[in-house]
Amino acid sequence: MKKVFITSNIPKAGLSLLKDKFQLTFHEPLDRQITEEELIEASKNHDAIITILSDPVTERVISAGGDKLKIVANYGAGFNNIDIDTCKKRNVQATNTPGVLHKTTADLTFAMILSIARRLKESEQFLRDGNFGGWKPDLFLGSDIHNKTLGIIGLGEIGQEVAKRAKGFNMKTLYYKRTQLSQKEEQELNVNYASFEHILSESDFLSLHVPLTEKTHHLISKDEFVKMKNDAFLINTSRGPVVDESALVKALETNQIRGAALDVFEEEPKVHNGLLNREDCLLLPHIGSATQKCRDDMSILTCKNVLAVLEGKEPLTPVV
Ligand code: DGY
Repeated sequence: MKKVFITSNIPKAGLSLLKDKFQLTFHEPLDRQITEEELIEASKNHDAIITILSDPVTERVISAGGDKLKIVANYGAGFNNIDIDTCKKRNVQATNTPGVLHKTTADLTFAMILSIARRLKESEQFLRDGNFGGWKPDLFLGSDIHNKTLGIIGLGEIGQEVAKRAKGFNMKTLYYKRTQLSQKEEQELNVNYASFEHILSESDFLSLHVPLTEKTHHLISKDEFVKMKNDAFLINTSRGPVVDESALVKALETNQIRGAALDVFEEEPKVHNGLLNREDCLLLPHIGSATQKCRDDMSILTCKNVLAVLEGKEPLTPVV
C-alpha cells in the first residue's frame, strides 16, 4: 500500500478520499510545527507528503525522498515554502490549491480595509472598556472607503476578487500586474492599469496580492513608503516578507502613512514588536482562507492531487 505523510490537521473532507486507498501517517504532535529534520525522515519512506505553508520543503527534504517520493501537495495557494527547482530536477510533483480560496481571502481583505479605515478594533475596545458615554461629533472619526482609490499590486485571482468587491463601494481601482488584462477584462472588473510608482502615489488603500519570490521580497520598503500618501493604508494578505516590517514601523511612527492591516508577517508567527502596540495597525493571525467551507475545499483539492499522482495520473493543480 502506498504511504502518505500529513504534517497538519487538515480537514477530513479531503482525507476521506485517501483513507481506504493509502496508508496515512500524521506528524506527531499534530499541533507542533514540523521541523526540516522531521520532514526529511518522513520523506524517506512516503510516496506523498501533504504540507502547509510553514513547512520547510527544502532541497534536503525532497532529495531524501529518493525514487519513492512522488508528490508534495501543499495545502494552500502559496508555495514559497517548497524548493520547486529541486522538485523539477527530481521529478517530484508539487501542487497547490488555487481556485478555492480566492473569494474567501478577498472577503477578508475587504473586511480589513473596512476595519482599519473605520477604526473598528479601537472603537470596540473603547466600548468594552466602559468608555462609551454617548454619541459625540468627534468620536472615532475614520476614513471613507467609497469613492477612494484602491491600488492592487498583483491582480491574480485574489486581487481580481478584491477588485470586484471594490466596485460595490464605488472605488477607483488601479492595478499593477506583470501582464496587463484585456480591455474587456479591465472593464468588467472596473480596473485601470498603472505603473507601480503611480499606484504608490495615488492609492488611499494599497492592497498586496503577489506571491513571495526573490523579486517581491521587501517590495514595499522605505522608498515605497516615502512615495505613498500620508493618509494611505497598507493592506497585506499575501506573504509577510513582501513588506519590510522595520520600514513599516518607521513609516507609521513618522506619519508617512496612516495605518496598516496585516494578516501575514515577515517571521510568522513572530510579529515585529514595533507593530504590536500601535492603534493604527490591525494585526491578524494569517486567517485569509479561514472558513470551514474554504478549508474543506482546500483539503479536497489537496487530496485529489495526491490521489491523481499516486494513481499515475496528472495532478489537477500542479504549480509549474
Ligand atoms: C495560502 O493559501 O497561500 C494562504 O496564505 C493560506 O490560505
